[in-house]
Amino acid sequence: MTNQPISGKTRVCGLIGDPITHSVSPLMHNAAFRKMGLDFVYVNFPVKRVVLAEAIQGMRALNIRGLNVTIPHKVAVMDLLDEIDEYARGIGAVNTIVNDGGKLKGYNTDAPGFLRALREGGVAPEGKKIVILGAGGAARGVSRSLAESGAQLVILNRHPETAAELARILAPAARAGVTALPLDEASMTGAIQDADVLVNTTSVGMSPDEDMSPVPVKLLNARLMVFDIVYHPAGTRLLREARAAGARVIGGLEMIIWQGALAQQYWTGQPAPVAVMRRAVQKARYEK
Ligand code: ATR
Repeated sequence: MTNQPISGKTRVCGLIGDPITHSVSPLMHNAAFRKMGLDFVYVNFPVKRVVLAEAIQGMRALNIRGLNVTIPHKVAVMDLLDEIDEYARGIGAVNTIVNDGGKLKGYNTDAPGFLRALREGGVAPEGKKIVILGAGGAARGVSRSLAESGAQLVILNRHPETAAELARILAPAARAGVTALPLDEASMTGAIQDADVLVNTTSVGMSPDEDMSPVPVKLLNARLMVFDIVYHPAGTRLLREARAAGARVIGGLEMIIWQGALAQQYWTGQPAPVAVMRRAVQKARYEK
Protein backbone atom coordinates (compact mmCIF):
# COMPACT_ATOMS: atom_id res chain seq x y z
CA MET A 1 0.00 0.00 0.00
CA THR A 2 1.53 3.28 -1.03
CA ASN A 3 -1.46 5.36 0.08
CA GLN A 4 -0.74 7.91 -2.58
CA PRO A 5 -2.63 8.48 -5.79
CA ILE A 6 -1.09 7.30 -9.04
CA SER A 7 -1.37 10.12 -11.54
CA GLY A 8 -0.82 10.37 -15.27
CA LYS A 9 2.69 11.60 -14.53
CA THR A 10 3.76 9.18 -11.82
CA ARG A 11 7.41 8.17 -12.19
CA VAL A 12 8.11 4.50 -11.56
CA CYS A 13 11.08 3.11 -9.65
CA GLY A 14 11.56 -0.42 -8.41
CA LEU A 15 13.66 -3.40 -7.50
CA ILE A 16 14.74 -6.28 -9.72
CA GLY A 17 16.10 -9.51 -8.27
CA ASP A 18 15.13 -13.04 -7.36
CA PRO A 19 13.81 -13.67 -4.76
CA ILE A 20 12.60 -10.27 -3.57
CA THR A 21 9.15 -10.74 -2.07
CA HIS A 22 10.53 -10.10 1.46
CA SER A 23 12.24 -6.85 0.48
CA VAL A 24 11.50 -3.82 2.65
CA SER A 25 12.56 -1.46 -0.14
CA PRO A 26 9.01 -0.67 -1.43
CA LEU A 27 7.86 0.36 2.06
CA MET A 28 11.00 2.38 2.63
CA HIS A 29 10.98 4.25 -0.69
CA ASN A 30 7.23 4.84 -0.87
CA ALA A 31 7.27 6.29 2.66
CA ALA A 32 10.01 8.66 1.53
CA PHE A 33 8.20 9.68 -1.69
CA ARG A 34 5.06 10.34 0.33
CA LYS A 35 6.93 12.44 2.87
CA MET A 36 8.55 14.49 0.10
CA GLY A 37 5.29 14.91 -1.80
CA LEU A 38 6.87 13.41 -4.92
CA ASP A 39 4.78 11.80 -7.66
CA PHE A 40 6.89 8.64 -7.60
CA VAL A 41 6.07 5.02 -6.84
CA TYR A 42 8.38 2.08 -6.05
CA VAL A 43 7.43 -1.52 -6.84
CA ASN A 44 9.04 -4.95 -6.74
CA PHE A 45 9.76 -6.63 -10.09
CA PRO A 46 10.72 -10.27 -9.50
CA VAL A 47 13.09 -10.95 -12.43
CA LYS A 48 14.66 -14.34 -13.08
CA ARG A 49 18.21 -14.58 -14.35
CA VAL A 50 17.13 -15.71 -17.84
CA VAL A 51 15.01 -12.60 -18.52
CA LEU A 52 17.35 -9.94 -17.16
CA ALA A 53 18.13 -8.50 -20.61
CA GLU A 54 14.42 -8.23 -21.43
CA ALA A 55 13.78 -6.53 -18.10
CA ILE A 56 16.45 -3.90 -18.79
CA GLN A 57 15.05 -3.32 -22.29
CA GLY A 58 11.64 -2.98 -20.63
CA MET A 59 13.03 -0.31 -18.33
CA ARG A 60 13.93 1.73 -21.40
CA ALA A 61 10.66 0.99 -23.24
CA LEU A 62 8.43 1.77 -20.26
CA ASN A 63 10.51 4.77 -19.16
CA ILE A 64 11.03 3.42 -15.67
CA ARG A 65 13.03 6.14 -13.90
CA GLY A 66 15.13 4.03 -11.59
CA LEU A 67 15.84 0.49 -10.49
CA ASN A 68 17.63 -1.11 -7.61
CA VAL A 69 19.33 -4.34 -8.52
CA THR A 70 19.86 -7.20 -6.13
CA ILE A 71 20.88 -10.86 -6.10
CA PRO A 72 21.54 -12.46 -8.60
CA HIS A 73 21.87 -9.56 -11.08
CA LYS A 74 24.39 -7.09 -9.59
CA VAL A 75 27.27 -8.15 -11.82
CA ALA A 76 25.42 -9.42 -14.92
CA VAL A 77 23.46 -6.18 -15.32
CA MET A 78 26.65 -4.20 -15.96
CA ASP A 79 26.93 -5.44 -19.55
CA LEU A 80 23.38 -4.26 -20.32
CA LEU A 81 23.77 -0.58 -19.39
CA ASP A 82 24.95 2.41 -21.44
CA GLU A 83 27.30 3.74 -18.81
CA ILE A 84 28.78 2.62 -15.50
CA ASP A 85 29.84 5.05 -12.81
CA GLU A 86 33.59 4.77 -12.19
CA TYR A 87 33.18 3.81 -8.53
CA ALA A 88 30.70 1.02 -9.39
CA ARG A 89 33.10 -0.27 -12.03
CA GLY A 90 35.88 -0.38 -9.47
CA ILE A 91 33.71 -2.45 -7.13
CA GLY A 92 32.50 -4.62 -10.01
CA ALA A 93 28.81 -4.49 -9.09
CA VAL A 94 25.81 -2.23 -9.78
CA ASN A 95 22.85 -1.94 -7.40
CA THR A 96 21.24 1.24 -8.77
CA ILE A 97 20.23 2.27 -12.30
CA VAL A 98 19.14 5.72 -13.41
CA ASN A 99 17.22 6.14 -16.67
CA ASP A 100 17.73 9.52 -18.32
CA GLY A 101 15.62 9.57 -21.46
CA GLY A 102 16.46 5.97 -22.37
CA LYS A 103 20.14 6.20 -21.40
CA LEU A 104 20.85 3.88 -18.51
CA LYS A 105 23.67 4.54 -16.04
CA GLY A 106 24.66 2.13 -13.28
CA TYR A 107 25.87 3.09 -9.79
CA ASN A 108 26.80 1.31 -6.60
CA THR A 109 25.27 2.67 -3.41
CA ASP A 110 25.88 -0.44 -1.27
CA ALA A 111 29.48 0.43 -0.41
CA PRO A 112 28.87 4.17 0.15
CA GLY A 113 25.75 3.18 2.13
CA PHE A 114 27.86 0.98 4.39
CA LEU A 115 30.42 3.76 4.87
CA ARG A 116 27.74 6.32 5.63
CA ALA A 117 26.12 4.02 8.19
CA LEU A 118 29.51 3.55 9.86
CA ARG A 119 30.17 7.29 9.98
CA GLU A 120 26.66 8.00 11.27
CA GLY A 121 27.40 5.40 13.98
CA GLY A 122 30.29 7.57 15.09
CA VAL A 123 33.31 5.91 13.43
CA ALA A 124 35.60 7.70 11.00
CA PRO A 125 37.48 4.81 9.33
CA GLU A 126 40.62 6.81 8.51
CA GLY A 127 43.58 5.23 10.30
CA LYS A 128 41.43 2.67 12.11
CA LYS A 129 42.19 -1.06 12.25
CA ILE A 130 39.19 -2.81 10.80
CA VAL A 131 38.66 -6.58 10.81
CA ILE A 132 36.39 -7.91 8.07
CA LEU A 133 34.89 -11.38 8.34
CA GLY A 134 34.12 -12.85 4.91
CA ALA A 135 35.43 -12.23 1.41
CA GLY A 136 32.35 -12.73 -0.78
CA GLY A 137 30.33 -10.30 -2.89
CA ALA A 138 29.31 -8.06 -0.02
CA ALA A 139 32.83 -7.98 1.41
CA ARG A 140 34.21 -6.67 -1.87
CA GLY A 141 32.28 -3.42 -1.79
CA VAL A 142 32.62 -2.94 1.95
CA SER A 143 36.37 -3.59 2.00
CA ARG A 144 37.03 -1.35 -0.98
CA SER A 145 35.18 1.58 0.54
CA LEU A 146 37.14 1.12 3.78
CA ALA A 147 40.49 0.70 2.03
CA GLU A 148 39.95 3.91 0.07
CA SER A 149 39.06 5.69 3.29
CA GLY A 150 42.50 4.94 4.70
CA ALA A 151 41.60 2.12 7.10
CA GLN A 152 44.03 -0.68 7.88
CA LEU A 153 42.27 -3.91 6.92
CA VAL A 154 42.47 -7.52 8.05
CA ILE A 155 40.25 -9.86 6.04
CA LEU A 156 39.45 -13.31 7.40
CA ASN A 157 37.64 -15.95 5.39
CA ARG A 158 36.71 -19.61 5.80
CA HIS A 159 38.41 -20.30 2.47
CA PRO A 160 41.58 -18.24 3.09
CA GLU A 161 42.56 -18.19 -0.57
CA THR A 162 39.48 -16.05 -1.31
CA ALA A 163 40.58 -13.59 1.38
CA ALA A 164 44.09 -13.55 -0.10
CA GLU A 165 42.69 -12.85 -3.58
CA LEU A 166 40.58 -9.97 -2.25
CA ALA A 167 43.56 -8.54 -0.37
CA ARG A 168 45.61 -8.68 -3.56
CA ILE A 169 42.91 -6.75 -5.47
CA LEU A 170 42.63 -4.16 -2.70
CA ALA A 171 46.35 -3.67 -2.12
CA PRO A 172 46.83 -0.75 -4.57
CA ALA A 173 43.98 1.22 -2.92
CA ALA A 174 44.77 0.22 0.67
CA ARG A 175 47.37 2.79 1.68
CA ALA A 176 47.20 1.75 5.35
CA GLY A 177 47.69 -1.92 4.40
CA VAL A 178 45.59 -5.04 3.98
CA THR A 179 46.25 -8.60 5.17
CA ALA A 180 44.39 -11.87 4.69
CA LEU A 181 43.95 -14.64 7.27
CA PRO A 182 41.90 -17.82 7.70
CA LEU A 183 38.66 -17.48 9.67
CA ASP A 184 39.81 -19.54 12.67
CA GLU A 185 39.93 -18.75 16.36
CA ALA A 186 43.67 -18.17 16.55
CA SER A 187 43.64 -15.67 13.68
CA MET A 188 40.53 -13.96 15.01
CA THR A 189 42.07 -13.63 18.47
CA GLY A 190 45.15 -11.91 17.11
CA ALA A 191 43.23 -9.71 14.69
CA ILE A 192 40.45 -8.55 16.99
CA GLN A 193 42.39 -7.81 20.18
CA ASP A 194 43.66 -4.41 19.02
CA ALA A 195 41.01 -3.70 16.35
CA ASP A 196 38.76 -0.64 16.34
CA VAL A 197 36.00 -2.06 14.18
CA LEU A 198 34.74 -5.59 13.43
CA VAL A 199 32.54 -6.08 10.36
CA ASN A 200 30.66 -9.30 9.65
CA THR A 201 29.97 -9.79 5.94
CA THR A 202 29.49 -13.57 6.16
CA SER A 203 26.04 -15.10 6.19
CA VAL A 204 26.65 -16.65 9.62
CA GLY A 205 23.81 -15.65 11.95
CA MET A 206 21.36 -14.98 9.14
CA SER A 207 17.86 -16.42 9.45
CA PRO A 208 17.19 -19.36 9.80
CA ASP A 209 20.57 -19.85 11.56
CA GLU A 210 19.84 -17.14 14.09
CA ASP A 211 21.56 -18.96 16.95
CA MET A 212 24.95 -18.78 15.20
CA SER A 213 27.65 -16.14 15.55
CA PRO A 214 30.86 -15.94 13.51
CA VAL A 215 32.86 -14.75 16.55
CA PRO A 216 33.51 -16.56 19.86
CA VAL A 217 31.97 -14.33 22.52
CA LYS A 218 35.21 -14.14 24.56
CA LEU A 219 36.87 -12.19 21.72
CA LEU A 220 34.38 -9.31 21.92
CA ASN A 221 35.37 -6.26 23.95
CA ALA A 222 34.18 -2.79 24.89
CA ARG A 223 36.67 -0.97 22.62
CA LEU A 224 35.06 -2.38 19.47
CA MET A 225 32.47 -1.03 17.11
CA VAL A 226 30.74 -4.13 15.69
CA PHE A 227 28.90 -3.78 12.37
CA ASP A 228 26.92 -6.84 11.25
CA ILE A 229 25.63 -6.40 7.71
CA VAL A 230 23.18 -9.28 8.25
CA TYR A 231 19.76 -7.60 8.52
CA HIS A 232 17.48 -10.60 8.95
CA PRO A 233 17.16 -10.88 11.90
CA ALA A 234 17.74 -7.21 12.68
CA GLY A 235 19.33 -8.12 16.02
CA THR A 236 21.79 -10.94 15.32
CA ARG A 237 23.45 -13.03 18.00
CA LEU A 238 26.75 -11.28 17.20
CA LEU A 239 25.20 -7.87 17.86
CA ARG A 240 23.55 -9.05 21.07
CA GLU A 241 26.79 -10.50 22.40
CA ALA A 242 28.79 -7.47 21.29
CA ARG A 243 26.42 -5.13 23.10
CA ALA A 244 26.61 -7.29 26.22
CA ALA A 245 30.43 -7.04 26.04
CA GLY A 246 30.12 -3.25 26.08
CA ALA A 247 30.84 -2.74 22.38
CA ARG A 248 29.00 -0.26 20.19
CA VAL A 249 26.96 -1.89 17.42
CA ILE A 250 25.43 -1.12 14.02
CA GLY A 251 22.92 -3.47 12.38
CA GLY A 252 22.53 -4.36 8.70
CA LEU A 253 19.30 -2.40 8.36
CA GLU A 254 21.33 0.81 8.59
CA MET A 255 23.22 -0.22 5.46
CA ILE A 256 19.92 -0.98 3.70
CA ILE A 257 18.54 2.42 4.69
CA TRP A 258 21.59 4.38 3.55
CA GLN A 259 22.01 2.53 0.25
CA GLY A 260 18.33 3.26 -0.39
CA ALA A 261 18.70 6.92 0.53
CA LEU A 262 21.66 7.35 -1.83
CA ALA A 263 19.85 5.51 -4.66
CA GLN A 264 16.80 7.67 -4.20
CA GLN A 265 18.90 10.82 -4.43
CA TYR A 266 20.08 9.69 -7.86
CA TRP A 267 16.47 9.26 -9.03
CA THR A 268 14.87 12.37 -7.55
CA GLY A 269 17.83 14.76 -7.30
CA GLN A 270 16.80 15.56 -3.72
CA PRO A 271 18.14 14.47 -0.33
CA ALA A 272 16.14 11.51 0.97
CA PRO A 273 14.24 11.72 4.30
CA VAL A 274 16.32 9.11 6.10
CA ALA A 275 14.44 9.20 9.42
CA VAL A 276 11.17 8.43 7.60
CA MET A 277 12.84 5.57 5.73
CA ARG A 278 14.22 4.15 8.99
CA ARG A 279 10.83 4.25 10.65
CA ALA A 280 9.23 2.48 7.67
CA VAL A 281 11.84 -0.28 7.76
CA GLN A 282 11.60 -0.75 11.53
CA LYS A 283 7.80 -0.87 11.36
CA ALA A 284 7.93 -3.45 8.56
CA ARG A 285 10.24 -5.70 10.57
CA TYR A 286 8.11 -5.32 13.67
CA GLU A 287 4.94 -6.29 11.81
CA LYS A 288 6.45 -9.44 10.24
P1 ATR B 1 27.49 -12.15 -0.17
O1 ATR B 1 27.18 -11.53 -1.51
O2 ATR B 1 26.36 -11.99 0.81
O3 ATR B 1 28.81 -11.70 0.36
P2 ATR B 1 28.74 -14.63 -0.94
O4 ATR B 1 29.49 -13.95 -2.02
O5 ATR B 1 28.15 -15.97 -1.18
O6 ATR B 1 27.54 -13.73 -0.42
O7 ATR B 1 29.73 -14.70 0.35
C1 ATR B 1 29.35 -15.34 1.52
C2 ATR B 1 30.48 -15.15 2.54
O8 ATR B 1 30.07 -15.79 3.77
C3 ATR B 1 31.79 -15.80 2.14
O9 ATR B 1 32.86 -15.07 2.69
C4 ATR B 1 31.68 -17.18 2.80
O10 ATR B 1 32.92 -17.80 3.05
P3 ATR B 1 33.61 -18.77 1.94
O11 ATR B 1 34.17 -17.85 0.87
O12 ATR B 1 34.68 -19.46 2.68
O13 ATR B 1 32.53 -19.66 1.42
C5 ATR B 1 31.02 -16.80 4.10
N1 ATR B 1 30.34 -17.92 4.75
C6 ATR B 1 29.18 -18.50 4.38
N2 ATR B 1 28.84 -19.49 5.23
C7 ATR B 1 29.83 -19.53 6.16
C8 ATR B 1 30.07 -20.33 7.33
N3 ATR B 1 29.23 -21.29 7.70
N4 ATR B 1 31.19 -20.08 8.05
C9 ATR B 1 32.04 -19.12 7.70
N5 ATR B 1 31.89 -18.32 6.61
C10 ATR B 1 30.79 -18.53 5.85
